[in-house]
Amino acid sequence: MKITNICCIGAGYVGGPTMAVIAQKCPHIKVTVVDLNEERIARWNDENVDNIPVYEPGLGQIVAHSRGKNLFFSTEVDKAIDEAQIIFISVNTPTKTYGSGKGMAADLKYIELCARQIARVSKNDKIVVEKSTLPVRTAEAIKSILDNTGNGVQFQILSNPEFLAEGTAVEDLLSPDRVLIGGDTSQEGQRAIQSLVDVYANWVPRERILTTNVWSSELSKLTANAFLAQRVSSINAMSELCEKTGANVNEVAKAIGMDSRIGPKFLKASVGFGGSCFQKDILNLVYISKSFGLNEVADYWEQVIIMNDHQKRRFSKNIVSTLYNTIADKKIAFLGWAFKKDTNDTRESAAIYVADDLINEQAKIAVYDPKVDYKQVISDLNYLETRSDDQNKKLVTSYNDVYEACANSHAIAVLTEWDEFKNYDWQKIYDSMQKPAFVFDGRNLLDAQKIKEIGFIYQEIGS
Ligand code: UDX
Ligand code: ADP
Repeated sequence: MKITNICCIGAGYVGGPTMAVIAQKCPHIKVTVVDLNEERIARWNDENVDNIPVYEPGLGQIVAHSRGKNLFFSTEVDKAIDEAQIIFISVNTPTKTYGSGKGMAADLKYIELCARQIARVSKNDKIVVEKSTLPVRTAEAIKSILDNTGNGVQFQILSNPEFLAEGTAVEDLLSPDRVLIGGDTSQEGQRAIQSLVDVYANWVPRERILTTNVWSSELSKLTANAFLAQRVSSINAMSELCEKTGANVNEVAKAIGMDSRIGPKFLKASVGFGGSCFQKDILNLVYISKSFGLNEVADYWEQVIIMNDHQKRRFSKNIVSTLYNTIADKKIAFLGWAFKKDTNDTRESAAIYVADDLINEQAKIAVYDPKVDYKQVISDLNYLETRSDDQNKKLVTSYNDVYEACANSHAIAVLTEWDEFKNYDWQKIYDSMQKPAFVFDGRNLLDAQKIKEIGFIYQEIGS
């Protein structure tokens, strides 16, 4: 089937950038991204591309290039489904916050709603592509809904997991290490796979497009994220040992990373990993393993999460003990709130958990992040349900100016590795702070020697 019309349900961090790149690379395909959230769609359509809801370096230009030509953002979900030959599902699949599997299993209610809507609207055969991260065998559930509630049309379900990392989404989409497409082994299934392969082949070399069965594809996504997260937890585990023994984790990471079997990437010790994928995917893996009675497998992967929680808690505990065991009423400036640099996404950011611990100790938190606003900071804290909205607002403020955020503070905590933090006038910051002035660098980002020479008491992870 020659593809000329694609729709994507969900205009978030995955759907938006992915479809923008497909539209740019496939000018012959009409790409429509739909979402129930009217405000989000309005922002994707904002004349000024600086206002699109997802911050990613380079994304604005890509959107500007195709928007209104072959790339459209709309709330008319039914119309887009009806017209499309391929429908990508890129809706959110958060960890369940209720019922069985609470805190572990993926909440598939948005996926199911999409499947029912596709079944109701479709009048001709369609290829449905799972893009959201999903537990293994979700494609089967989608197929069952489509086949049993549809208008008798044929659906092929493909799994095409997203491997882009936020902050480098455009780069990752333009030259992916690999594109993975899982589908049914039947002839129809293979034909559907080929249609999607042909879309990607417009810019991705064929040898980088892998095809597998649906379940291998679904499980590969969870496995990739589990392996990556495991590397971060492994180096973070060593960071604590380095602190006790006098070793330096940056030196250890460099030394082991030069072993070509280990490799240098993803060995940066930090205050802990965040983001919408790592924790969620590992919890999924743990839940699935347990449900098959594979308790050792489940425990093995759960340890990656336990280590990560420990790393965040250890960071906040160290702030309290270093500041003479009391931080009540002390102003602590947070540099960064996003879960990593170059994104405005804050989901599962370590900053949220560190702030929550420090607020419990009645500290006053002053946040500065170049891309995250106050509303988001408060909403993230409220989501934890530790205390009321009013109480969070009383102790947490945010600033548009980093020097104001740091003025009169007792300590600075670096939570995100934004490049601009390195280039501030640190002498000016020092002069405006309470003394002794502390910096807790959760990203080992700053120039330690320079910071110490100014007079700061500087602590980093793993040394
Ligand atoms: C991840 C996967 O990398 C991507 O392939 C998948 O599609 C989605 O999940 P993402 O969550 O966007 O991407 O970010 P990633 O770069 O993987 O970082 C995750 C977290 O780990 C961040 O909080 C980051 O700061 C942290 N991290 C990463 C470290 O602490 N140290 C490292 O060495 C690397
Ligand atoms: P991700 O990181 O996976 O892209 P996001 O939360 O950024 O997750 O985006 C998911 C988007 O999917 C949200 O904008 C949400 O409004 C949208 N969405 C969820 N369910 C539906 C649905 N049934 N129809 C249309 N859009 C939906």
